[in-house]
Amino acid sequence: MARKFFVGGNFKMNGTSESIKKIIKNLNDSKLDSNVEVVIAPPALYLQLAKAEVKQPTVQVSAQNVYDKPDGAFTGEISVSQLADSDIHWTILGHSERRTLLGETDEIVASKTKFAIDGGLSVVWCCGESLAEREAGNTVAVVERQLAALAAKISGADWQKVVIAYEPIWAIGTGKVATVQQAQEAHEAIRNWLKAKVSDDVAEQTRILYGGSVKGDNSKDLAKEKDIDGFLVGGASLKPEFVDIINSNL
Ligand code: G3P
Repeated sequence: MARKFFVGGNFKMNGTSESIKKIIKNLNDSKLDSNVEVVIAPPALYLQLAKAEVKQPTVQVSAQNVYDKPDGAFTGEISVSQLADSDIHWTILGHSERRTLLGETDEIVASKTKFAIDGGLSVVWCCGESLAEREAGNTVAVVERQLAALAAKISGADWQKVVIAYEPIWAIGTGKVATVQQAQEAHEAIRNWLKAKVSDDVAEQTRILYGGSVKGDNSKDLAKEKDIDGFLVGGASLKPEFVDIINSNL
């Protein structure tokens, strides 16, 4: 079965009520490829606003993070059950900014992923290497280490709730997009790992997104690659060109 193309917009810690309404209005007013699954991830404060504004049937709203404990005395954290209660069914997890700036380990990210799935959410699970790791030839080893931590926590049908986002850290926010060859090689390595360590079906069915300086003028070439099933977009998701990225296959 063909993998449905998927495009995520990670707004990160950007936006205001006004700017987020404007972004969503542009999506509502645009013709979007009906074969593309879209999630937009505004800051947590604006999740319900986004939920109320989105009109496109192919667009869903996502959190950028969750906590891996039931509701309780966890000041400042974001609850899986409260997201579900708010009719929010997606979260991004393991973004490199949280791994590097906030010390989220492979194991913490895997635990959050399992907890989110068990709580009914679907997860965009992020992985990727630093420039130093790539220059040392360790790209695949790093991503395989991250995948192994995830596979130690989830199993079976859990994988149907996971979309993988390969985001080379050196391409995030830098304007230095990975070359088509670099991206495809990393995606192929991820799919080969899934085939070897999980199952043929999971390898075949799991969407693997590319993230890192995706723009309207580079997404079409990336989208042609057999193991690139979509994008996780940062800066460009805040701009009208996000529609061009969603429509990369048109
Ligand atoms: O999660 C997506 C993000 O890390 C990519 O950021 O601005 O390079 O598209 P950007």
